[in-house]
Amino acid sequence: MITIEVNNQQIQAKKGETILEALNRNGINVPTLCRMEGFSPTGACRLCVVEVEGKSGLIPSCSFPIDEPLKIKTHSPRVIRSRKMLVELLLSNHPDDCLYCVRNGNCELQDLAEELNVRERRIAGNKSKASIDQSSPGIVRDPAKCVLCGRCVRICEEVQEVSTFDFIKRGNKTSIATSMNKDLNFSNCIHCGQCIMVCPTGALHEKTNFDVLLEMLNNPDIKVIAQFSPSVTVSIAEELGIRSGKDISGLIINALHKIGFYKVFDTAFASDMLIYEQAAELVDRIKYKGNLPLISSCCPGWIKYMEQSHVDLMENVSTCKSPQQMMGSMIKSFYAQQETISSEKIFSVSFMSCTAKKFEAQREEMTHKGISDIDLVLTSRELLKLIKLYGIDVQLLDEEIADNPFNTRSSAGKLVAASGGIAEGLIRTFYFLSSKNEIPDYKITKLRSSKDRREIFIDIDDSRIGVAVVSGLKHANKLLEEIRNGRDDLHYVEIMACPGGCINGGGQPFCNDDKILKARLKTIYDIDEKEGLKVAHKNPNLIQLYEKFLGEPLSVKANSYLHTKYSKRDVLL
Ligand code: SF4
Ligand code: SF4
Ligand code: FES
Repeated sequence: MITIEVNNQQIQAKKGETILEALNRNGINVPTLCRMEGFSPTGACRLCVVEVEGKSGLIPSCSFPIDEPLKIKTHSPRVIRSRKMLVELLLSNHPDDCLYCVRNGNCELQDLAEELNVRERRIAGNKSKASIDQSSPGIVRDPAKCVLCGRCVRICEEVQEVSTFDFIKRGNKTSIATSMNKDLNFSNCIHCGQCIMVCPTGALHEKTNFDVLLEMLNNPDIKVIAQFSPSVTVSIAEELGIRSGKDISGLIINALHKIGFYKVFDTAFASDMLIYEQAAELVDRIKYKGNLPLISSCCPGWIKYMEQSHVDLMENVSTCKSPQQMMGSMIKSFYAQQETISSEKIFSVSFMSCTAKKFEAQREEMTHKGISDIDLVLTSRELLKLIKLYGIDVQLLDEEIADNPFNTRSSAGKLVAASGGIAEGLIRTFYFLSSKNEIPDYKITKLRSSKDRREIFIDIDDSRIGVAVVSGLKHANKLLEEIRNGRDDLHYVEIMACPGGCINGGGQPFCNDDKILKARLKTIYDIDEKEGLKVAHKNPNLIQLYEKFLGEPLSVKANSYLHTKYSKRDVLL
């Protein structure tokens, strides 16, 4: 430890840590903009500057390591003047439309202006004329609001290894652009939304389609049916004044009924369906020596990435549609038939933790006889806005259960919200399908660690089954390279594009707090611990669906409604 002096008081710093880390540990905050937790500092924005005795210029605290005693001033008049000037410069060419901005009230630039007491426009810059890019089905880019922090560039390159964005040009012409400065839909963007999660302003946000939904909700000829994903219900509680991570499925169902949705289904039912179908697919591949390992297919970000970057492994990827699409497909077929409603009179809406689901829903592969499985996808953030728009105080509502005929789910279906959850649920059902016995220990602890990659080998009768789980495409790339190079001990691989899985999806409420993510995860595992129905193949409504409609997993009918095929995708890199 090294003793340093900060604002005339002594504090202890660890040798080698940055000034910023030492300050934060000792309860002193300085503003930051380009810094990202867990990433090496770039020192680009200079908002975190401090005065260090003996140094002529101001020092960026996020990148200056402490290796000797220092005397620091964090909020001297010179430091505050410098930070204020930087924010004023950022505001000088920023559009003055905060009241209409999607991040109004939740914007780091607004917070900085407030913190530094910016009350007048002293610098008149030229307003950016860059046009808004609405070309992507999931993500809107408004370059005029970009403050060049570079966070989107780094997350896309260093975590996802997609590298959609980069800095182009120099000096005051610098901007962020996709390859060849084309619109996002021409780029290799996989719509994961991780860049939205780190963007401090409204420069990146999801595409919203509220108007269409409101029109449908008010159309008496249309039955608007909702489904919500297992990760949404554990991720929005704190935004509604409820304990972080609490599962509020029952309250969401009630709220959606109150808003006017005709029926509300839990996508976790369809997660059970996915597990059942995919476990059967794995049994088949092993039995008939098909392509192994079988690679999961429920993450639409990963699927687009595979189509453009891992096309040689396409035959390994499961043909199962995602739970969102499976549920959509069953709503417009089985449910519509049962209720004698024409599928054209159904408007199927899903609430997901993911911006890539918006992209997935409009894919041609996600239709059945020309009818889209899903008509509209809204994110968790949009669900919160909808609840607010309809003036619903969720805390005063009673819990309701999902509607028939899809109102049961196993806890395996809920586990799907977390990275490793599909694999865990699938192993349980695969074990049963292979051995006709239930797995002796449901909880597969090894798949629940926070490691970037988790692997497990399970003995079933005389066979040994290898399963690997990765989230974040950087880790997927490494594993897939091993497989390409001949690794042959794996039978199933689960890949989620977003680090940690859907609980950290690009459509979730903004959250910089690791504790909140941990609370979401804990809730998912607590549900699995407490509930009795732990395996997809015993879900009573799912069994009925197969008896009445689908026959059995991988039947001709199941194939036609629940499975699909992908093909190579050419994109501008
Ligand atoms: S959505 Fe994902 S892939 Fe697309 S630019 Fe953002 S981080 Fe990169
Ligand atoms: S788009 Fe957002 S995250 Fe990317 S550089 Fe601009 S302000 Fe930063
Ligand atoms: S946060 Fe330190 S330079 Fe940007």
